[in-house]
Amino acid sequence: MKKIIIYFSLLGHNREIAERMAEQENCEVKEFSPGNKLRVFQIIGGKKRLRKRARRMEKELLIFNELIICGPIWAYKPAPAIRSLLKYLTLEGKTVSCYMTYTQDYRESEEIIKNMIEEQSGIVKEIAFKNIENMGDQ
Ligand SMILES: Cc1cc2nc3c(=O)[nH]c(=O)nc-3n(C[C@H](O)[C@H](O)[C@H](O)COP(=O)(O)O)c2cc1C
Repeated sequence: MKKIIIYFSLLGHNREIAERMAEQENCEVKEFSPGNKLRVFQIIGGKKRLRKRARRMEKELLIFNELIICGPIWAYKPAPAIRSLLKYLTLEGKTVSCYMTYTQDYRESEEIIKNMIEEQSGIVKEIAFKNIENMGDQ
């Protein structure tokens, strides 16, 4: 299995998680960056740009068959950047894990992520949520 970790991070927690995991697993890590302005405003717009950037990243992922995606919960759901990755990357035949950070509530996010992966014919490996308020404990 050739594995890669892709992350989106606004405040740096997911960057830290992804980089630590890449070191432990000895695999590549890549940031999915929707651009400076879009970092926060993606929540109310910028879908087209996210789609374009996800499709651009797709070409770099062809050689990988296991994807690990890290990102935050925004407005009770995976941030738009993460939803764009799950929607526009080709996941067919790939094993996908998602590690999401949150502070309070992620409601139906597990179901949303699972459905998005399966809609793209990806294989769900693991979906987990981490409260960043406990991150200092490690
Ligand atoms: C626009 C925005 C919306 C958020 N909405 C939620 C939410 O609905 N539930 C929650 O538990 N945390 C919410 N958070 C907190 C984020 O999940 C938290 O900042 C994030 O996990 C930190 O990851 P990062 O440092 O990689 O950006 C929100 C944060 C932002 C910036």
